[in-house]
This record gives sequence, C-alpha cells and structure tokens, in this order.
Amino acid sequence: MKITAAITGVGGYVPDYVLTNQELEKLVDTTDEWITSRTGIKERRILKGKDQGSSVMGIQAVRQLLEKTNTRPEEVDLLICATVTPDMLFPATANIISAGVGIQNAFSYDLNAACSSFLYALTTAAQFVQSGIYKKVVVVGADKMSAIVDYTDRSNCILFGDGAGAVMLEPSTDGYGILDQVLCSNGNGEQFLNQKAGGSRRPPTAETVANGEHFIYQEGATVFKFAVKNMADVAAQVMTRQGLSHDDVAWLVPHQANKRIIDATANRMGVGPEKVMLNIQRYGNTTSATIPLCLWDYEKQLHKGDNLILAAFGGGFTWGAMHVKWAYNS
Ligand code: UT7
Repeated sequence: MKITAAITGVGGYVPDYVLTNQELEKLVDTTDEWITSRTGIKERRILKGKDQGSSVMGIQAVRQLLEKTNTRPEEVDLLICATVTPDMLFPATANIISAGVGIQNAFSYDLNAACSSFLYALTTAAQFVQSGIYKKVVVVGADKMSAIVDYTDRSNCILFGDGAGAVMLEPSTDGYGILDQVLCSNGNGEQFLNQKAGGSRRPPTAETVANGEHFIYQEGATVFKFAVKNMADVAAQVMTRQGLSHDDVAWLVPHQANKRIIDATANRMGVGPEKVMLNIQRYGNTTSATIPLCLWDYEKQLHKGDNLILAAFGGGFTWGAMHVKWAYNS
C-alpha cells in the first residue's frame, strides 16, 4: 500500500506590532502608492522586544498546531524548522522550538533554502513519512526578517515582515497529501541576494557591522526577473507532470515576495485570482513562513480533495513547486 504524507493541520502566529506603509514613509523616502503598486504590500508584522528570536513565533505556531490536531508533544517524531533567521547559528532553532512546546521524543533540525526553505523542508519531511519510518512530523517555517533588515534601505525594508507557520504531516493510504514536487537550485545566484557577513567566510567584525554586511542585500530587479520566470516554470511543470489542467487546480499557494511575481505565476498556470492565496498585503515577505501562513489564513476555505500547487522562489537561487491534495475539511 502506497503511503503519502498528508498535511493534517495548520498553525500560525504573527506578532502584534503592525508596521504600515505610512510608518515607513516616515523612515525612508518612499510612498504608500509606490509600495502598493510595486509589491502589493500594505503592512507587515514585527516582533518587538529584547532577546526575542524566530523561535518565539515558531513556538506559538507549533503550540497551536498541536492543540488543533489534538497531538500530545510526546507523539511527535521529528520537527524541522525552515528558517534563514535562526535564533543563533547553533544550536538549531528547531531544538529550541521543540523544547518550548515540550516535544521530547523527537529529533529536530533546521533547514535553510532562503525563501524556498518551507518547500524544501516539506519535501524532506515527507520522505520520512512516505518511507513509513515516522507517523507525526512537524514542519515549521519561522523568520524574524526584521532582525536582518536595514531600515534605512528603502528598496528592502518595505518588503519583509516577521511570522511563523507550521503544518503536521501524517501518513495517508488514500492518496492525500504531497504527491509531487520539482525543486531546483543554482548557486550562481548567490551574488544577487544574500547576507554577506556573519558566516564563516566573513565572520562578524566592527568593519562588517559598519558596512551593513549583516543586513539583507538584494538586487531586486534581477531577482524579480529570475523569480517571475522560474516560479512560473516549475508550477507549470508540476501541473503537466501530474496531468492537472487549470480547472483541476483549486488553489495556487505562492511564496509572498511580490504580488506581481504571484500574478505572473497564476497567469502562466491559467488560474484566476479567485484561486490564488494572497496575504502579502498584511504580512509582506516572511520568507519561510509565507506558504504556511497562507494555508493558515485560508484553511477554512479548503476542502478535502482540493488540488493545491505550492510554489516558491528565493535566494541561492532556490525555487520549486509542489502538488498537494488537501486531506481534510475544517
Ligand atoms: O523572496 C525572495 C525573492 N525576492 C523577490 O522575489 C523580490 C524580487 N524583487 C522585487 O520584488 C522588486 O524588484 C522590488 C520590489 C524589490 C523593486 O521593484 P522594481 O520595480 O524592481 O524597482 P527597481 O529596483 O527597479 O527600482 C525602480 C526605482 C528606482 O529608482 P530609479 O533608479 O529608477 O530612480 C529605485 O531607487 O524605484 C526606486 N525605489 C523606490 N522608490 C520608492 C526602490 N525602492 C523604492 C521605494 N520607494 N521603497
């Protein structure tokens, strides 16, 4: 009997503080009109407070997920945290989240594929379920992007926000869950989107801090071109491989980096805006959390058997798309 990895629940968390376009107008030379028309973003959430890392949000999202799925922490076999903003370089934020929610009998680790982290993590987690090894695997995407954003850089500070979303994967023998994916990466994209310092190549020094090398660096227009082409390509590829027409697709669940990239992907797939999950206007780009936060926001509108196409593009470059058959009615 073929086992697939079904998503059996969703949890999410966004911090209370709302950073609006109007507030950004006071920080940098920008306008609500420019941000809205170029990106689709109106506001984003920011995690405030001293010594608060991504794990704080991941813990909230996973705690809600365990409650919603009636799962006791000791039942979880594995937890993977997708993040580009771990609390520390080590230990893994996944370990901190597990401890925070009382998961004790599991192993846990972080996975970083920039904005594609959640898709990569979901694919990785699914292997453990499909193989029959594990029964309950949590994938949490958590990013405190405000920790690495330069709020004097108008081209970047308008884009990002903080948040976390989590899903539970469990075995299905009825053909629900993750059915296919195409994942890609190309390290030649390194130069266009990165955080230069803080790793082993350029450890932190007074100079790296003074140069702003611990902030996100992005050549937006170049990344935009690659994102539009590649995200649409893989989404279309997965549909073809799975024999899905645009009518068969119930939802596109895109990484929320720019509404114009999302629109281009939907156009290429031939799906109308009514089938596109969109919350970029409220959260901005939360990197590893965008896709699970979409599922969290739209969960009540999902029906058992719906075909979802998840798609992402990010630094690396990394990109991918996935076909998920939704496994439950809320
Ligand atoms: O999630 C990871 C992957 N990342 C992405 O997918 C992001 C991809 N890139 C983008 O979404 C877009 O490239 C941006 C939103 C970052 C920028 O939009 P754009 O249409 O590509 O603008 P641009 O960078 O080509 O800049 C156009 C102009 C420039 O002015 P000049 O040189 O033409 O005079 C910028 O300086 O817009 C200016 N600009 C701004 N103006 C007002 C850049 N940022 C702003 C701003 N407010 N916040």
